[in-house]
Amino acid sequence: MIERLDEVAESAAQLLIDCDRVRVISHQDADGITSGGIICSALYRCGIPFHVSILSRLDEKIIKGLKGPIVFCDMGSGQPELISQIDGKVCVIDHHKPTATDTEYVHVNPHLVGIDGAFEISASGTAYAVAMHLGNNADLAGLAIAGALGDQQEMVGSNKDILEEAIEHGIITIIRGLRIGEGDISKLLECSTDPYLDISGEPEKVKILLDQLDIRGMVEDLNEDELRRLSSVLVLKVLEQGAPTDVTESLIGDRYKLNYEVVSDALHLSNIVNAAGKAGETALALSLCLRDRSVIDKAEQLYLNYQKKVISELKRIEQEIKDAGYIRYAHSSEKDVIGALGSTIIRYVAPDKPILVLIKEGERIKISARGTRELVERGLNLSVAMREGAAQVGGEGGGHSIASGAAIPADAESKFIEIVDDIIMKQLRGENE
Ligand code: C5P
Repeated sequence: MIERLDEVAESAAQLLIDCDRVRVISHQDADGITSGGIICSALYRCGIPFHVSILSRLDEKIIKGLKGPIVFCDMGSGQPELISQIDGKVCVIDHHKPTATDTEYVHVNPHLVGIDGAFEISASGTAYAVAMHLGNNADLAGLAIAGALGDQQEMVGSNKDILEEAIEHGIITIIRGLRIGEGDISKLLECSTDPYLDISGEPEKVKILLDQLDIRGMVEDLNEDELRRLSSVLVLKVLEQGAPTDVTESLIGDRYKLNYEVVSDALHLSNIVNAAGKAGETALALSLCLRDRSVIDKAEQLYLNYQKKVISELKRIEQEIKDAGYIRYAHSSEKDVIGALGSTIIRYVAPDKPILVLIKEGERIKISARGTRELVERGLNLSVAMREGAAQVGGEGGGHSIASGAAIPADAESKFIEIVDDIIMKQLRGENE
């Protein structure tokens, strides 16, 4: 199947290579920005000038006036009606489930060739497949893996293929260890949401724990004994909190050391790119992916600030989560963190039902919805629930089966919750037609 993806990737590369300039439009999260970074690096190496825009969403206003050649990264597959309005050459590189299969533009999407884009390859892996036809770009595999981690994908299917090839060529090295990122251990624990612990957001408690364990310094410098002691305590904490076993399993495991990127831990690169993007510092986030060392310190600071914001909002809303029957929902008042809140709640606070986090922004309510793999295996499809639920109240939504989002009119909240709860009830009971 990867061969079939490769064929479409080759046509996308052919389209790009014939251009004298290209507009790149990419999504504002880690997977989107790493995908944009891969395509921009590949274009730069081909001597093709490019202009990049990093956006949180595509809509009619943005599309109006756009002219090809354009390449969309990590967006577009769910909006064929918008993309087909654009004159000139267009290429969509995305991993969201396509809502149209027969398009006039070049559409590189794993779902179209039988690969599950929600779990097995992200937009950055798909962009990497295109970049591999634009020249010798194997060193960009690190960004492909960082993007996949950003979308909480595992190294299975096509991700595994990319990873294994990258290891063989010395682009990535696997190190076993604690998967909490890179840098000062006390800062990492204080601002950690994965794992989200009773010491997250509590510098004093972190200090007491580390003093008890006699551990300090950078996580990458910890010796085997220190790592073992720290890991045991963290795993115990996560277990005591009642998180599912896959959470404890993912805490210690393979870390991906990126030998060509300016931030070497793949998970950490993904985290700081995401935080910079969410803070609106999209140029800085992209610069990281283009290997600009000068922005690392600022990106690290943005990451700490972002995590602190997520943790303090999480502590506030944790007590106010409502149960609608088949789903839970909570209201946030902090912009740009609802996705992170949903991801942390579903992993560490209440994993048994899908969670929707809502925020009112002007006349609209934005929603981030998150599920678990187990719920998806039982029939949950949040993408369908968000799209159909939003459409019924005059909004729009979409995404993946496990992580999705929507925007609805401000007065439609209770109706929307009721509709989505009903859709998800049918999905989980296997009653959907
Ligand atoms: O914003 P959030 O991280 O919750 O988005 C989760 C997924 O849902 C993303 O893949 C995003 O592209 C998609 N989404 C969507 N339509 C929306 C909001 C989010 O398709 N209105």
